[in-house]
Amino acid sequence: MYSSSMMARAVCLLLIALRLSLLAAASYNVVDYGAVADGRTDSAKAFLAAWSAACAANKPASMYVPAGRFMVGQATFQGPCNNSAIRVFIAGTLVAPSGYTAAANWLRFKYVNGLSVLGGIIDGRGQTFWACKEAGRSCPQGATSLAIALSTNVVIRGLASHNSEVFHLSIFASSGVKIQGAKIIAPGDSPNTDGIHIQKSTDVSVVSTVIKTGDDCISMGEGTSNVWIEKIHCGPGHGISIGSLGATPSETRVQNITVTAVTFSGTQNGLRIKTWGKPNGGFVEGVTFSHAVMQNVGYPIVVDQNYCPGNVDCPGQSSGIRISKVSYMDIQGSSATPVAVKFDCSPTNPCRGLDLRDIKLTYLGNKQAEAYCKNAQGSAAGTMNPPSCI
Ligand SMILES: *[C@@H]1O[C@H](CO)[C@@H](O)[C@H](O)[C@H]1NC(C)=O
Ligand SMILES: *[C@@H]1O[C@H](CO)[C@@H](O)[C@H](O)[C@H]1NC(C)=O
Repeated sequence: MYSSSMMARAVCLLLIALRLSLLAAASYNVVDYGAVADGRTDSAKAFLAAWSAACAANKPASMYVPAGRFMVGQATFQGPCNNSAIRVFIAGTLVAPSGYTAAANWLRFKYVNGLSVLGGIIDGRGQTFWACKEAGRSCPQGATSLAIALSTNVVIRGLASHNSEVFHLSIFASSGVKIQGAKIIAPGDSPNTDGIHIQKSTDVSVVSTVIKTGDDCISMGEGTSNVWIEKIHCGPGHGISIGSLGATPSETRVQNITVTAVTFSGTQNGLRIKTWGKPNGGFVEGVTFSHAVMQNVGYPIVVDQNYCPGNVDCPGQSSGIRISKVSYMDIQGSSATPVAVKFDCSPTNPCRGLDLRDIKLTYLGNKQAEAYCKNAQGSAAGTMNPPSCI
């Protein structure tokens, strides 16, 4: 047993070590480069200058954003850098310019290896852009608030993202990305404000995160593998989705995806896989959905291989994407529609290896729900409510 004084000494030594390591790392404060915390002056240049200094350092470096409200115009924080341990500490709030962001991304990290973004609030101020879309006017494409592109070994911890124009976070062509303790919030009726979109990326985890938006909480596009999603609250929003896949004929693959301990409340879908009903050489293989709680969810479990808006260019509505080895374990709660489980698979490429275990879903809390199967193969075990259609 340690005595409490030994404990205190150990803690003290730890704090000293931490301090020394922080002193050893160079730190660059955006205010020293001219950033102004008045919420109005565009501080993008100052942020980029602080980034350049941290990126040029030949040892671990940090960029520091103090408390306060900083308006930051479109900014790309680009590597490769001279060190692979850059920390961006954000104590304050970054707000996007009012009006529209004239780029596909508001804040972007590109070609960076070894980055931590710690804390911070980013406010995309998407309201003007949403209003333009809702009025049916011709609007710019809209900006993703924070994009991680072509990067490796990235940690995003404790970030709050509010009101993005389109996606809140995008992980593109990157590997080794960990998102922890994020809070992503936009109104339930804001268009295309997906929480986190992952594409062409591998080894990505999203844990202990709250996502309330107007579109998918988390969506995974083509070329995505080894994704771990755990302890997520999702809703309002459209649920967690693999797809839409196969919009273009090039090969699409999504592999080894785990989604566990997720609560969906009032979402349009729960756990969804969605592919276009047209030719493709791609596949989805190895997906585990477990321990999900559905609270009044439109379509709790859904595979839809017939996606074809406007029914244009989808000969025979037959998806070329092969879906296999998808398991659903311990999925419970209530569906807002009678069909709580729906497998609408491709006539030419039936779903194989759908494995269901302990499904307890009701319709509106106390009514019997139904399951629907088309071109679906697999097995069911344990409690099955609605009764399995496989
Ligand atoms: C890396 O360091 C070298 C020498 O110190 C410097 O010339 C170069 O600009 C730095 N690279 C970056 C990306 O900042
Ligand atoms: C699947 O992904 C997980 C991370 O989610 C990883 O730990 C595991 O090694 C991957 N499995 C394979 C076979 O690559």
